[in-house]
Amino acid sequence: MLRIEGLRRSFGGVAALEELDLAVADGEVMGLIGPNGSGKTTLFNVITGVHQADTGRVLLREEEITRSTPARIVRQGIARTFQNLRIFQRMSVRENVWVAQHSLPGVGPMALMSNRSAAERARKAEVDRLLDAVGLADRRNVLAGSLPLPDQRRLELARALVRSPALLLLDEPAGGMTPAETAEMAALIRDFAVPGRTCIVIEHKLDLISTLCQRLCVLNFGRKIADGEPGRVLEHPEVLEAYLGRDAVNA
Ligand SMILES: Nc1ncnc2c1ncn2[C@@H]1O[C@H](COP(=O)(O)OP(=O)(O)O)[C@@H](O)[C@H]1O
Ligand SMILES: [Mg+2]
Repeated sequence: MLRIEGLRRSFGGVAALEELDLAVADGEVMGLIGPNGSGKTTLFNVITGVHQADTGRVLLREEEITRSTPARIVRQGIARTFQNLRIFQRMSVRENVWVAQHSLPGVGPMALMSNRSAAERARKAEVDRLLDAVGLADRRNVLAGSLPLPDQRRLELARALVRSPALLLLDEPAGGMTPAETAEMAALIRDFAVPGRTCIVIEHKLDLISTLCQRLCVLNFGRKIADGEPGRVLEHPEVLEAYLGRDAVNA
């Protein structure tokens, strides 16, 4: 589904990604971990065309998307959520999903005006179905900005899924959540967001990673230091040192 070859991206003198190679198979759910600043979000930004790669290639289903625009990459089936949420605070929950849906190709301003068309009714039904699935049906008319953080993250997930993306990139979907909220989010992603899709999840919380991912990739200073089955990866000495700190290795 996704192949990355020799990817490199620097900011000023800082190499955020260095010579990164990565392949994710169709239907695979991969966890991406690593210390703060190790290049995880940068990888999502390069895949989605927000940042250009300095060198290297990104291929989706063997088609090169390295120089594609963000809009084109969305059309090709990649969707993401953001570590720092990108929802419209002053719109209602429902409008947030509706707007995401209307940024789809083929759904222009005319569709917005032809409110009574069968296609538009189908889209509204889809919005309600998504809100129901992420557990926000009863809050569909409240302002998105008034939702507590875990619900804002659920809303972002609903927005990403309107595209029925083939590849879903989740950037810390349980960021700032309590353990109980994290467990709920993990179940939601596992049961609803991920089936039938390929997914990369950036997350520090190992309970979420271990319920979701068959595979774990670890970055440190923009380089891949481990990649494989989670149990094995988490025993890797370099991973323990980079990710959990020296104390964890000595403990
Ligand atoms: N837009 C940017 N401008 C300058 N430096 C950036 C930018 N984005 C990321 N970086 C730098 O790249 C490195 C990797 O950052 P990031 O990908 O956000 O790490 P992570 O998501 O793993 O915490 C950091 O040193 C960060 O400061
Ligand atoms: Mg990040």
